[in-house]
Amino acid sequence: MKDFMSKVAVITGAGSGMGRYLAVLLAKSGCDVVICDIDEDSLSGTAAMLKNYNVAVSSHRLDVADEESIKALPEKVIAQHGKVDLVFNNAGVTVDSDFSNMPESDWDKVMGVNLHGVINMTRAFLPYLRERPEAAVVNTSSIFGMIAVPRQSVYHATKFAVRGFTESLVKEMKGTSVQVHCVHPGHIGTNILSSAKVNPSADNDGRRGMFARPDATHEEQGEAFRQNGMHASKAAQVILDGVRKRRSRIFIGMDAKLTDLAQRLTPMHYDKLLPFIFLPLVLLRNKKGLKDLPAEP
Ligand SMILES: NC(=O)c1ccc[n+]([C@@H]2O[C@H](COP(=O)([O-])OP(=O)(O)OC[C@H]3O[C@@H](n4cnc5c(N)ncnc54)[C@H](O)[C@@H]3O)[C@@H](O)[C@H]2O)c1
Repeated sequence: MKDFMSKVAVITGAGSGMGRYLAVLLAKSGCDVVICDIDEDSLSGTAAMLKNYNVAVSSHRLDVADEESIKALPEKVIAQHGKVDLVFNNAGVTVDSDFSNMPESDWDKVMGVNLHGVINMTRAFLPYLRERPEAAVVNTSSIFGMIAVPRQSVYHATKFAVRGFTESLVKEMKGTSVQVHCVHPGHIGTNILSSAKVNPSADNDGRRGMFARPDATHEEQGEAFRQNGMHASKAAQVILDGVRKRRSRIFIGMDAKLTDLAQRLTPMHYDKLLPFIFLPLVLLRNKKGLKDLPAEP
């Protein structure tokens, strides 16, 4: 797919982070956008940013863990926009928790959003995408779909599964009009960590995930995560460049590329290399967003 002009794109998790900037950059390229999120306030923030562009926008409060709502979405999109060309399965959440200390409800929630949401959206939209002369499914996994760290067992379970699901679909859709992409972001400065539920560690030693300073509050951790990652608008641009170039596997950031290399070189010991990959990049990273985009409301 060379460009997005006059196409229609559905984006989940469009109220924040990469989903919000996918919507803005697609609208900037002349693409109509269908923005979906569970959070209505953040969704209206994205809708406000889209007012700068001369494209059709529709906004849907959608819980991607709710299969029935997903089943109903394609007809609503067709009624409002007449067609659908691209689906970005971007919505995602995490829980910061030891597996042994995680309530089953936390496990089910992350599985519902990150994995079943992606599968159900793909199932619902694929028949419509196959009718188009060119179309794309873009599923967001993570660099955590390549490597594993402690306290992210459910996130890894979903992101490894999204990668497996998507790579199989890439092969099944070869030779059709539907291109399929799996996205593996490194550290992007979004709200994902501040939105995450944190469960105390099983042995109560206050241990938290790889980005955590033991003395910082959850709010401080979330803010540090936002400040130190790549700007979400740049990440969105990398995703769209990957779709234009038909890259089935899209890595975002040098951290993601080096981490993938580290796990290939030393599959059982890559974790020892991670501080040497992530920490220098935090210092070197240019965290400014792309120019010429509307300010966030
Ligand atoms: N930020 C990173 O460093 C990073 C790294 C790797 C992968 N990812 C993945 O990138 C994707 C986008 O995340 P982000 O970093 O922009 O996070 P974000 O928290 O800024 O945005 C995620 C959006 O998803 C929405 N959402 C949550 N639950 C939902 C549900 N049930 N239904 C619909 N929408 C829901 C949230 O309201 C939010 O607007 C996620 O799949 C995430 O796992 C992020």
